[in-house]
Parts: sequence; C-alpha cells; structure tokens
Amino acid sequence: MKSTTRDPIPMKGLILSGGQGTRLRPITFTQAKQLVPVANKPVLFYGIEALQEAGIEDIGIVVGDTKDEIIEAAGDGRQWGVKLTYIEQEAPLGLAHAVLVAEDYLGQTPFVMYLGDNILKSGIKSLVQEFQDQKPNALILLTEVPNPQMFGVAELKDGQVIRLVEKPKQPRSNLALVGVYMFDHYIFEAAKTIKPSWRGELEITDAIQYLVDHGYRVQPHIVSGWWKDTGKIEDLLEANRLILESIEGKIEGVVDGESRLNGQVILEKGAKVVRSVVRGPAVIGQNTRIIDSYIGPFTSIQANCRLVRTEIEHSIILEGSEIADIGGRIDDSLIGRGVKVYRGEAKPQVYRFVLGEKSEVGLK
Ligand code: G1P
Repeated sequence: MKSTTRDPIPMKGLILSGGQGTRLRPITFTQAKQLVPVANKPVLFYGIEALQEAGIEDIGIVVGDTKDEIIEAAGDGRQWGVKLTYIEQEAPLGLAHAVLVAEDYLGQTPFVMYLGDNILKSGIKSLVQEFQDQKPNALILLTEVPNPQMFGVAELKDGQVIRLVEKPKQPRSNLALVGVYMFDHYIFEAAKTIKPSWRGELEITDAIQYLVDHGYRVQPHIVSGWWKDTGKIEDLLEANRLILESIEGKIEGVVDGESRLNGQVILEKGAKVVRSVVRGPAVIGQNTRIIDSYIGPFTSIQANCRLVRTEIEHSIILEGSEIADIGGRIDDSLIGRGVKVYRGEAKPQVYRFVLGEKSEVGLK
C-alpha cells in the first residue's frame, strides 16, 4: 500500500519506569518515583515529551511493581500523539536486564533508552538526528558532574570511549553517563553476555563496555544543557527549580484584592489566593487555597491543598495536603500526599507526630 505521508523516523523509544525509588522514601512507599511531580507534572511525562519531540512515536515503557499507577497516569499515549506499550519486568534486575525484557518489542529497530526519572533540559531531538546520521552502534550522553562516584563514569581518549565503570570508588574522569542512551540491536548480544555486578544487577554500563571491547562503535556526546536524575530529594528540588525558571505565568484561578503576585506564577483553575504574597516562579494547582500566606520562589503546590498562615519556598507539596500556622518558613521540603502539618491549640503544648517509616522532620 502506498503511503502519502512521510514515513515515521524508524526508531523506537524505551522508557524505564520500574525501580523502587529507595532514595525518595517515604514518598515512594506509595507512589512510583517516576510520577513524583516536577512543576506539577510527573517526571515521566518529561521523558515521553522529549521522545515525542524527537519524532519517536512508538514507545515501550518498562514497568515493575508500580505498573498499575504508571499505566493509569500515562494511558495509551494518545494525549501526546504516541503509542505506549507496557512491558513488564518481573524484578528490578538492572538496566541491561530491562533491555532484554524489551527485546521482543524492540526487535531490530534502533531505539532511545530513557530513564524515567531523568530530565534533560535541551531535549534529545538533535541527538536522535546525530544517531540517525552517523549510525554508530551506540550513542551515549555524558556530562561533567562534581560527584562522579554516584554515576556510571566514562573515560575518553582522543574523543573515543575507552572505559566505562559503574559507580567507581576512584573515578578516572568526572564525566557521568546521563540516563539517555541510543542503541542498535547489538546491545542485546552485549546484555546477554555480561554478568551481574556487585549490586546484583545487569548494568547497562557493562553492556556498553562490551560493545567497546568488541569493536562496536560507541559514540560519546557531551551534553551542555542541564540534566537531572530526580532520584534524590535535592536533585528533585533542583529539577523543580530549573523547570520553574522557564515557566510563563498564567492565572486561571482567583486572586483577591489584598494579595500580591510577583514574577511568573501559574495559578491553575479553581485555585484561590487570599491575603497572601506569591513570589514566582511558582505553580499552584487546581482548587488549592492559599490564605494569609507567603509562597516563595521555586515552589510547586499540587491540587487540592490548603495553606493557611504559612510561609514556604523552594519546595514541592503533593496533592491534598494541609499546612497551617507553622510559625517559621518551610524551605527545601518535599511534602507527600494528604499530609497535615499544623500547630495545635490543645494543652499540653507539645510536638505531636504521626510519621510513617522513613519520614524526616527537621526542626529549627
Ligand atoms: C543509572 C546508571 C548510571 C547512570 C545513572 C543516570 O544509575 O546505572 O550509569 O549514570 O542511572 O541517572 P542508577 O539510577 O541505577 O543508580
């Protein structure tokens, strides 16, 4: 059959959205780390959008224990004009294991593998083009970091990759592997040959080393824009800050005459600001109430929250939480869903906590 439209770019996407998110507990006891919101949008959606922008319409999502909520959030991909296929990984046995689990789905088609908790500022469009033009067996993205021992690290010589080590104690460079990779089908041979690492995982870093060692072409690309792996709270807040820095204000909610909004503020539908100051960049979700409060820069508040006589900045508050009368400024905080923080009237005047496992409270 003859097609009148341009053939779609022959690459697939593979987003890894399993893993346990241990570094984001307690939030991740009840929620997938890829669904934690950055500027009120799940981290995972940034990855889907980056692939879609690069012209990739067939995207597999590898899911684990949190499969149901990931499927509920992203659906069949229609909202982005892409087709999402969910692929189950029975246990989090490593990134290279996830590639093997997806072998039937990917077949011989080259693909972009995107870690579902990563955000890359400049997107991946030009990188996908580079891969398609130059056709290496793998294209890896690298960026300089101050703490390379926390990542996969690449050593280059004359612009060529010579060695890759996962979380080295003594890194030979400060070039970390960014969680976005492009591969052709030779990666399956590599992933089938390598052995699990000390942490019991089939590391994608080792699979890429296999490609290097067996004469396959692994092309490095050093990314210049910012990149964040949101797996830890500091990085999540930093990603939130960086995304908010580029938002444009939009007021769909209600602001009373005694309130002041400065800078870029998104006030979603049904949200209300009463006798308060909101200093952007900040985003306030649907039906949230801000009363007699100060919302400072780099704050994202999801839907259905209620903040009364509260000061907060550089923080993320998830859906349905209530904060009142704290009496100090909240800073650098991640507050989960349906959380209540308030000052009680009852005597004796004590601190009263109901905290789940791995909760963290910092008092001044
Ligand atoms: C994984 C990779 C690592 C890479 C990092 C990027 O680490 O194993 O090589 O640098 O993602 O986010 P993990 O998140 O499994 O610790």
